[in-house]
Amino acid sequence: MTKQTYRQAFSSHDAAAAYAKRYTNSTYDNLLWDIEREQLRELIRSHCAESSRHRALDFATGTGRVLPVISEFFPSVVGVDVAQPMLDIAKASCPTATLHQADLSTGALLPEAPFQLVTAFRFLFNAEEELRASALRGIRANLADEGSVLIINNHGSTPSIRSVSHAAWTMVRPFLKLNHNRLSHRAVMRLLKDSGFEIVEWRSTGLAGEKLWRLLPSAIVARVERKASRSRAMKWVLLNRLYACRPLTNPSVR
Ligand SMILES: C[S@@+](CC[C@H](N)C(=O)[O-])C[C@H]1O[C@@H](n2cnc3c(N)ncnc32)[C@H](O)[C@@H]1O
Repeated sequence: MTKQTYRQAFSSHDAAAAYAKRYTNSTYDNLLWDIEREQLRELIRSHCAESSRHRALDFATGTGRVLPVISEFFPSVVGVDVAQPMLDIAKASCPTATLHQADLSTGALLPEAPFQLVTAFRFLFNAEEELRASALRGIRANLADEGSVLIINNHGSTPSIRSVSHAAWTMVRPFLKLNHNRLSHRAVMRLLKDSGFEIVEWRSTGLAGEKLWRLLPSAIVARVERKASRSRAMKWVLLNRLYACRPLTNPSVR
């Protein structure tokens, strides 16, 4: 049987419905999204001047989780994804957004391009290496100019407290097969640079992890997570990284 690629991973209605469930009220993912949503707003305020005159694109929009946030700032908002079942849910998340089923990694230009802001959430970490690089090139082609901004996250960053605890578990219980993918901060910096972007600011969140969320009172975990996401020292050991980037003027794009 041929292995499913990341482009195909959300092409069924079941996969789309399962993904939407991650962000219902009482999940750890939803707590982190509450924090990340505020970080996203702060980055837009800091880096997107006169957003009310421009257009924004949410790449790999999925169920449209990010669309309502960017539409608080931009009068015209577009979402793009390869998976129609995800877009069907996105329509309900943000009825005012224009949605396209398309694969930007092929170099396609959207009819509404150029955009002042492109967001890309929960894409980088799980995408294949080839797809990461081609998607970033596609995003760059759809951005307006060097004044425009890409805000992209890596929801499985290393180094992090989680990666250290996984490593410790693997040493203590080597027979345990822990499924722990990695995408290091350093690899993201290299990938962005090779794709013609420079990071201008980054934030992070995600300390306790799903297991502690289930064990401890949710109000305590929420308070600790919020504090950690504001701490300069903790920034380097949290799991979800959110990067604000600008296209380089003279990139040596590979
Ligand atoms: C994990 S979901 C994330 C959805 C949304 N960004 C969020 O954070 O909730 C990843 C999305 O990437 C989409 N995707 C994968 N490859 C793509 C491509 N080449 N172009 C556009 N979307 C793609 C998938 O269909 C899926 O909807």
